[in-house]
Amino acid sequence: VGKRSKGALISIFLDTGNTPLWRRLGDSIRAAVTQGVLAPGARLPSARSLAADLHLSRATVEAALSALEEEGLIVRRIGSGTFVSTSAGRDVMPAAPAPNQRAPTPRPTALSERGQRLAVSGAPVLPVTRGAFTLAPPSDDFPHTTWARLTARCLRDHGSTLAQEDDAQGYLPLRQAIALHLRTNRGLKCSAENILVVSSTQEALILCAHAFLSPGDEVWMEDPGYPGAFAAFRAAGAQIIPIPVDSEGLRIEDGVRAAPRARMVYITPSCQFPCGVTLTAERRLALLQWAEASGALVLEDDYDSELRYSGLPMAAIHAHDFGGRTLYAGTFNKTLFPSLRIAYLVTRPEWVRELVAVRSNFGGPPASSVQATLAAFLGEGLLGAHVRTLRARCEERRETLLDAVSRELGPRMDLRAGATGQHAIGWLSEREDDRAVSLRAAAAGLDVPPLSRYVLVHPQPPALVIGYASASPAAIRAAVRTLSRCLPAPGAE
Ligand SMILES: Cc1ncc(COP(=O)(O)O)c(C=O)c1O
Repeated sequence: VGKRSKGALISIFLDTGNTPLWRRLGDSIRAAVTQGVLAPGARLPSARSLAADLHLSRATVEAALSALEEEGLIVRRIGSGTFVSTSAGRDVMPAAPAPNQRAPTPRPTALSERGQRLAVSGAPVLPVTRGAFTLAPPSDDFPHTTWARLTARCLRDHGSTLAQEDDAQGYLPLRQAIALHLRTNRGLKCSAENILVVSSTQEALILCAHAFLSPGDEVWMEDPGYPGAFAAFRAAGAQIIPIPVDSEGLRIEDGVRAAPRARMVYITPSCQFPCGVTLTAERRLALLQWAEASGALVLEDDYDSELRYSGLPMAAIHAHDFGGRTLYAGTFNKTLFPSLRIAYLVTRPEWVRELVAVRSNFGGPPASSVQATLAAFLGEGLLGAHVRTLRARCEERRETLLDAVSRELGPRMDLRAGATGQHAIGWLSEREDDRAVSLRAAAAGLDVPPLSRYVLVHPQPPALVIGYASASPAAIRAAVRTLSRCLPAPGAE
């Protein structure tokens, strides 16, 4: 992992493969324009700052900008900068106005250079195709009536207090309930003072990145890995060091070799995203020993850990961390419902207090009334019951997918569903181009991203990432038949 790989990091937003880097950069700028992130007339960051931010060579950036200029997508004015052409992105502009309406004049974006870079690197702005395989939890089983009852009770009994409640660390009874849940289910040794309530794992990641990393600090990231974490570290100016993943999870030895003095490690040990493997006990120990000796921080993203279908769940890394080097992130947005916007970060009390102060720069905790309802939900033991229902639901769908893929796709796909989580990896024949299959599937209404989308630098064989939790068994079977039509017929070359 050296200069070359740093330059390749931007590939997480782009198609990977054999495409030259300058062309991929050009593609990403073009995508930002056609998706409307960069409006016609918007100023682009300078070539120098683009090269610095994206860890690319100046020559690569120049090559990309020259090609876009030749295409007419951007205009470069000596002395004043580079702009998106005012005729660019016509295909996404609103339809022509009726004769009695005034045509809107395209306005340059109000975003700063930094704002524009964040807009390009942040969450996808295109609406996601919500097909049967979308990476989303089931929506069938959430006990909305019970939730409504608890909400009503909280508001009736504590409405005026909740309206004024202002604990910047998070509503105390919720922190107490989360701590009890984590002590019982994930082996964490924690209490309410270790917990910071946040709105999402993403908020926890961005907060940790900004609070603990200086620009240029090295961070190990799983490769392939979670784009949300990549975006958070990149926004903080960190130097991302991609570390390969194998069937035992993150290859700790490779990390120690590549960046022995890294400041932070981001890891999804229960269910590696996107490969789905569980980090072995030996590697957990090796990671903690190295972190303790080197003074690195371990940012543990424990999403999906409750959905384990076979074998015993492994305790979180945080549970074995006696040196207090772990920042543990968990979320209710996947187990309860995505728009809940409640997650948590668990770490040393003194760091929690500092993080509260850092967070106050850009926001605060989620609404107290929602936190109170969740506290009541946990307090009544309803989370455990819901997770059991969810697990049974997901397991049924996982089995359906495994069965349908083996019947319909046979040797064309080797489907591997890890023991935990809500998605599987469908390995394709070596000859297949996963991006092309994914595009054909998108045209047929299926959302199956290619594994290469999550690759930083270490190439993977072609594969699709297939969510199985959000659709009914019948919809899954129908979607597998559709997917079959997006792959070459059996025996065809
Ligand atoms: C690796 C990973 N972490 C965390 C999350 C959950 O994120 P949030 O709480 O930000 O919704 C997801 C969601 O898919 C994920 O894939």
